[in-house]
Amino acid sequence: MRAEGSISPSTENFSLTDQEFEAIAQFAHKHFGLAMASSKKPLVSSRLARKLRQRNITRFKDYLASLDGPNADQERSGLLSLLTTNVTHFFREPHHFETLRNDVLPPLIEQARRGGRVRLWSAGCSNGQEPYSIAMTVLDICPEAAQLDFKILGTDIDPVVVQHAQAAKYPEDELAQIDAKYSKLVPKRGPDGRFPESLRKLITFGVLNLIEPFPFRGRFDAIFCRNVAIYFDNPTQQKVWSAFQNALNPGGYLFIGHSERMSGPAAQQLKTAGITTYVNLPAGRKT
Ligand SMILES: C[S@@+](CC[C@H](N)C(=O)[O-])C[C@H]1O[C@@H](n2cnc3c(N)ncnc32)[C@H](O)[C@@H]1O
Repeated sequence: MRAEGSISPSTENFSLTDQEFEAIAQFAHKHFGLAMASSKKPLVSSRLARKLRQRNITRFKDYLASLDGPNADQERSGLLSLLTTNVTHFFREPHHFETLRNDVLPPLIEQARRGGRVRLWSAGCSNGQEPYSIAMTVLDICPEAAQLDFKILGTDIDPVVVQHAQAAKYPEDELAQIDAKYSKLVPKRGPDGRFPESLRKLITFGVLNLIEPFPFRGRFDAIFCRNVAIYFDNPTQQKVWSAFQNALNPGGYLFIGHSERMSGPAAQQLKTAGITTYVNLPAGRKT
């Protein structure tokens, strides 16, 4: 038996005590909105053991302290990566991109061509495949979008994935998944292998925690928040859905992930408009 708070991460069979798991679960809920059932304990234990071994940390309490220490941002981001997945790919859940192309974009492009403002948001964008897929869809039907007041925002809580997204470089096998109709926008094996500037300049990336108040003044015409809220508990999900509903223009669209469900007060204002697709009703009208 090992003493509480004192571990030997060099041992292969390291496992968190119930108390240690609870401490991590509480931290993750408070700071990231994550819901961590006790069934996750073995997974968290093995991932944390690897991390502590790499970092040569021998006491769990030292790791916990590092989450509030001088490198807290980096440490917290490392913990978040360990507790969630960044899995994503270009044009994931393709029906959403069909709705975007056929129903959402045509009136917005008209609006932008008349001098109006259009804002799309990929919230929880991971390494950027989602906002780049949105941008390709936009440029395919509105090649001059970057010259209009047409902007896409890509955000994630994890600064590491946001940096990847900004770098705009992807392995050949991932780029090969993109439909040939976008070939003009996909980098050839060039000097830097990045997505072309025409695509990059449509998107602004930033770090943003969805469980904190949103820092925007203007509203969005469409929000993609897919496969993110799945990590949150029910009350946190409902808060986030309401925050999105408030951040949408009337008639704006919200796309959520295939295993996520709309619930709580936001469901009164968000009318179903397809699979995991919702339209924000004008104020006063309810579903
Ligand atoms: C599975 S990826 C989803 C990527 C993309 N939306 C998609 O559907 O392919 C989940 C992302 O949510 C991010 N995430 C988790 N909690 C978050 C939070 N509280 N605020 C913002 N992003 C968060 C993770 O960092 C991760 O990059």
